[in-house]
Amino acid sequence: MAVTAPTIESTYRVLKEKLEGIVPDFELAYKAELAFHINQLKSERGAVILGHNYMEPALYHSVCDYTGDSLELSRIAATTEADPIVFCGVRFMAETAKILNPDRTVLLPAERAGCSLAASITAADVRELRRRYPGVPIVAYINTYADVKAEIDVCCTSSNARQVVESLDSDVVIFLPDEYLARNVARETGKRIVFPSDKPVSANRASESASDGLEFEIVGWEGRCEVHEKFTVEDIRAVREQFPDVVVLAHPECSPEVVDASDFSGSTSAMTRYVTEVEAERYLLLTECSMGDNIAAEARDKEMLRLCSVRCPHMNEITLEQVLASLRENRYQIEVPEDVRLRARRSIDRMLEIR
Ligand code: 13P
Ligand code: SF4
Repeated sequence: MAVTAPTIESTYRVLKEKLEGIVPDFELAYKAELAFHINQLKSERGAVILGHNYMEPALYHSVCDYTGDSLELSRIAATTEADPIVFCGVRFMAETAKILNPDRTVLLPAERAGCSLAASITAADVRELRRRYPGVPIVAYINTYADVKAEIDVCCTSSNARQVVESLDSDVVIFLPDEYLARNVARETGKRIVFPSDKPVSANRASESASDGLEFEIVGWEGRCEVHEKFTVEDIRAVREQFPDVVVLAHPECSPEVVDASDFSGSTSAMTRYVTEVEAERYLLLTECSMGDNIAAEARDKEMLRLCSVRCPHMNEITLEQVLASLRENRYQIEVPEDVRLRARRSIDRMLEIR
């Protein structure tokens, strides 16, 4: 049977089926037209579109070939053969795709889609930490720029942070730049955490730590996610008071106190899986608000409560209009200097090898 080519009408129907009641109809009609043109251009150009779980629901459900959390999208970027790669996410994610695909065009649809964590640390800061803690392995969250990744030993994401730290087989590990993720990993693994502004630690601290009953220490950095740092235990208390049956999910970029007061903490994809697998009616998501809409579209019988006053301005820079312009005008091309790329690649490859 001949396959009929998509039209604006059929794109609208697909979106309506997924998002009716979640996104207003007039918005779906407007966005279906943009999505139709994007999909046409995408197939003409042989492009692939990768979309982070935080993308707004119409974009997420209409033009993305692959969606996922940072680790899942990095694994896809490492294997895709398409050219160009359009990254609907933020700059550090598109840079990771470029580091893995130096000969391909990697496009980030919005020029300024940054990240407060990536902006919190520089390559010079990492070199200073190396000088201060000689011989101590350095793990950095994937939410860092290429020049920082070039200075470290291995990357991690929110879904494999614990595994990466444990894989190092070292008494002391430097974990950058998210203070809260580091504190959460330290608590999960029973390690003591210190910060460069605290009293100095050295690699031979292992024996002292052992006498405390702790296996080893983590040296953190005081970077914060501007979205997740805003959620509070008081927010959770207020929602639980109104909805006693609510299941609370917090991204590990939230403070340890917020994670503690929640029922589950995991990467964006782990939170999505949790909601679809657990039998409860009502969930509070402590993360970027759009993800609640994307989960609601998959799990119609579940109610997603969100605190939408806290948004990621960087992820929200990516719109269907920008994606269309990106494919039409080949913008904004991500470039990484070759010497930086080669060194940064080692830290990404080392993470991807950990299963
Ligand atoms: P995930 O890897 O969990 O998708 O997180 C990325 C991110 O930036 C969360 O704020
Ligand atoms: Fe960065 Fe936070 Fe936005 Fe994620 S939500 S991209 S960590 S600023």
